[in-house]
Amino acid sequence: MMVSGRIRPPGDKSVTHRALLFGAIASGQTRLERPLLADDTRAMAGALRKLGVHVPALRTHCPVLLDGVGRRGLVSPTRPLNCRNSGTAARLLIGVLAGSTATAVVTGDRSLRSRPMRRVTEPLASMGARFDEMHGDGLPLRVIGTSLRSTTCELAVASAQVKSAVLFAGLVAGVDVTVVEPMATRDHTERMARALGIPIETDGQRVTMHGVEAIRGFEMSVPGDPSSAAFLIGLALLADHGELTVTGMTTNPTRIGFLRVLERMGAAVVVEEQAAVLGEPIGDVTARPSELVGVEVAAQEIPSLIDEVPMLAVLASRATGESRFRGVRELRFKESNRLEGLARNLRAIGGRAAVEGDDLVVEGSDAAYRGVVETDGDHRIAMAFSVLGRQPSVRIQLTEDRSPSVSYPAFFEDLRGICDAG
Ligand code: S3P
Repeated sequence: MMVSGRIRPPGDKSVTHRALLFGAIASGQTRLERPLLADDTRAMAGALRKLGVHVPALRTHCPVLLDGVGRRGLVSPTRPLNCRNSGTAARLLIGVLAGSTATAVVTGDRSLRSRPMRRVTEPLASMGARFDEMHGDGLPLRVIGTSLRSTTCELAVASAQVKSAVLFAGLVAGVDVTVVEPMATRDHTERMARALGIPIETDGQRVTMHGVEAIRGFEMSVPGDPSSAAFLIGLALLADHGELTVTGMTTNPTRIGFLRVLERMGAAVVVEEQAAVLGEPIGDVTARPSELVGVEVAAQEIPSLIDEVPMLAVLASRATGESRFRGVRELRFKESNRLEGLARNLRAIGGRAAVEGDDLVVEGSDAAYRGVVETDGDHRIAMAFSVLGRQPSVRIQLTEDRSPSVSYPAFFEDLRGICDAG
């Protein structure tokens, strides 16, 4: 198998969600170039429309021009906000609504309805937020916007979604908030807030954002998504020949833990930094076929690569020796139970993998993997195993191939474009 070319991954999912939210609560117009056009961000745009924000349809090659309604301008929708498969849309919207003057029911597809929401509602409740639980810890959930008080929230889980929900709640309510996280997580909200002139201080894992009267509309070109790029980079590492460059992705240090791990695995990966955009560093990443070795990933590193564990685990199944991903408990609460799903699917195709407590252990092999991969409708499981399936010695069948549309609709097309089976 050979790889070649230069390819730009889709717009970053986390940045697109946040840019849509900042734009919605800003006063005036916001222009977003190259946002992620996928099911998850369309779910966010659809929810914002129901809250009275003018957001045009997210269409290819069209910048999104969004008319913000201001901090106090969101209106109560008559129907529930369906966030479909998107945990980020649901949790960030819960934060925004908590500090608003609107009341809304937040819901989602079957996977999202069963994901934990108290991790968000509990810290928000300490600020005075009001909720009506309609399904225990899951969704649907009614958020009753109210005035919030300035608080310090010590978070129990290392989650950028939870941190950002609290920061957005404070921003919409116009109060100061401090969040202390147990481990550093992605900091897009903080970087964008700072670039938009919102006073914000960070000190290690402690962030304080100050209430402001208004934020102004802005322009942003959304950088490429390292979590989507990881699949393309993984493909290049597993190839026999060639070289692939992924262009214009964010190289925010809180997102590229997987590149640091790949380096330890012996991967030939080179990053070339480009100019930053609205607080986000950008780079081009070139990857070449590599002989990989097993790796130990520490629990502290996990938040910086949480969405890349599926690809890293698949690469570990092709490395020499054992790999151990420590403290990956949070993988149980993603779009599927990724911890069990990864181990089960690697075994289903003839690999060796196990869950030991909160660790994922994968034994490398060059066996001719064969079998059926049950994706559980999870985009990142589907994409990681599709990459493995490109190796000539591997024969894998996925139970579905629609799920990549939630974060990377052109995934299969892009794979075909950069990869030559011969
Ligand atoms: C995200 C944070 C992560 C990640 C998700 C996007 C974000 O979730 O898995 O895909 O945009 O803040 P957690 O914060 O729950 O770990």
